[in-house]
Amino acid sequence: MSSPGYHGGISGLLKNALDYLEVLAAEPRPYLHGKAVGCIVAAAGWQAGATSLMSLRSTVHALRGWPTALGAVVNSSAKPFDPKTRDQLSTVGRQVLDFARARVELC
Ligand SMILES: Cc1cc2nc3c(=O)[nH]c(=O)nc-3n(C[C@H](O)[C@H](O)[C@H](O)COP(=O)(O)O)c2cc1C
Repeated sequence: MSSPGYHGGISGLLKNALDYLEVLAAEPRPYLHGKAVGCIVAAAGWQAGATSLMSLRSTVHALRGWPTALGAVVNSSAKPFDPKTRDQLSTVGRQVLDFARARVELC
């Protein structure tokens, strides 16, 4: 799940989309129950990147999802991108897959 950092938080568009998950409230697996969610934020500065990532991770928690251990911030004003950004994004993706595989093995 990814969002631009808008005024230190996630975008209203993403928040509106997530609010629609309310239709899953009464399901046996409500909201994001049991799902790993890789969280990525792009912002023009590190401060908004950090606060927006925390906000995104909190929302995933509130929806009963499991934010991966690593979340990633892309600083869109620091170009060319730091090569470490690619590693971080790969790690987030790998952690989502690892979680999904571990869950399949448990079931
Ligand atoms: C409404 C709005 C609010 C924004 N607020 C912030 C902010 O608080 N801090 C920040 O670093 N960047 C902010 N940005 C910049 C976005 O995070 C940035 O546009 C996004 O990372 C995408 O990068 P790009 O515009 O270079 O494609 C804002 C952009 C918009 C449109």
